[in-house]
Amino acid sequence: MDCLEITGGARLRGAIEINGSKNAALPILAATIFCEGETILRRVPDLADVRQMIRILEKLGLSFEWLGPGAVKVRVEDEMNCHAEYREVSKMRASVCVMGPLLAKRKQAQVAMPGGCAIGDRPVDLHIQGMLALGADFDLVNGDMVLRAKRLKGTEIFLGGAFGSTVTGTANVMMAAVLAEGRTIIESAACEPEISDLAEFLNKCGAQITGHGTPRVTIDGVQSLRGCEHTILPDRIEAGTFAMAAAITNGDLLLKNARIEHMLAVVDRLRKIGVIVERAETGISVSSSRRLEPVEITTQPYPGFPTDLQAQIMALLCLADGNSVVCEKVFPDRYLHVAELNRMGARLRKEGPTVIVQGVKRLVGAPVMASDLRASAGLVLAGLIAKGKTMVRRAYHIDRGYEKIEEKLNAVGADIRRVDEEL
Ligand code: UD1
Repeated sequence: MDCLEITGGARLRGAIEINGSKNAALPILAATIFCEGETILRRVPDLADVRQMIRILEKLGLSFEWLGPGAVKVRVEDEMNCHAEYREVSKMRASVCVMGPLLAKRKQAQVAMPGGCAIGDRPVDLHIQGMLALGADFDLVNGDMVLRAKRLKGTEIFLGGAFGSTVTGTANVMMAAVLAEGRTIIESAACEPEISDLAEFLNKCGAQITGHGTPRVTIDGVQSLRGCEHTILPDRIEAGTFAMAAAITNGDLLLKNARIEHMLAVVDRLRKIGVIVERAETGISVSSSRRLEPVEITTQPYPGFPTDLQAQIMALLCLADGNSVVCEKVFPDRYLHVAELNRMGARLRKEGPTVIVQGVKRLVGAPVMASDLRASAGLVLAGLIAKGKTMVRRAYHIDRGYEKIEEKLNAVGADIRRVDEEL
């Protein structure tokens, strides 16, 4: 099993190119189920999760042809199959994004109910609530959600839950509504830039969506969608991770393509910590050369601080000069990295959804276990500064969301080797 062996201590300097966003690419790939003719997507990141989504879509009758790095041509060949099976869905929760397009376009969706995962329960009740509101029939058969509707009907839907808005839930309901009869209004919609990118893709295909990027999205149903060309927006989570890599190593990185306007909560916290973050002509520059100040972080739906960067900023705060507080308001159980960071000399104490981070002078290398995608990114960051060697086991988690992370970091001075280790 792949393992990342990191020798800590190097200052990172140079430029890193930020990829297309994973969380935008996944629902946009699912949305190609709608498209008549050809669709060409550019800056599609080469990630395990993207390959998994493509495998699912191939089973649903779509064909994919790679035109070059990041560029893929998609075509719907056969619309008979409407079943995304448990074997596939259990590997990646975002597969649930095929539900909206299948139901709207093929009048039926059979999608395995995703289970929990390392970061918590992760229910899909809001997705189903939205489909029911649009007039779908719902049944649970052998662990599959089976939805049917001859034609969905536009309506007003409140999509907020106990933890705020839902990202893939908004994507699903928005997609289901694009071919519905009449107008749909989603209230408490997720405002994430990835939802806006999906809406812009759908509009290029002929959909009529307005208000995306705000909590109130309006969708006027149309008869059909045709393929288009679209470039996936840059990944703000990858950019945020590398920004913290610059900060934790006292380095200096230019994050090419990164969009500061999508990262204001992250920039705000980094600046409070004492990191220099500036808009550059081609992206964002991040540097640090002074002691780190402790801060309070609360994760929230966009535009708040993203839960997907919570583990990474916690690694950074381990080295701050004082006590920080991290409160996880999106996935309150998303703390599997805490015990692993403590194995590296961090002083973290979890109290319910909150972690008190007592700053330490240094971290020390250790074998640690990656438990989920972003937790492993946090461990890699800790490894970059830890004294000695850190072995991040189960590196496949990190490959789900970061393309060639060791190559990118080594190119700016890190010392990371991918090794095969028997567990
Ligand atoms: C998406 C992102 C993931 C990110 C998360 C939160 C993708 C592919 N994944 O995941 O990287 O960490 O947003 O920013 O874009 N909830 C319900 N009922 C539902 C759906 C969600 O209660 O039907 C709750 C969840 O348990 C969680 C909160 O709502 O507490 C937000 O989850 P959600 O936005 O749906 O996360 P995902 O879309 O799965």
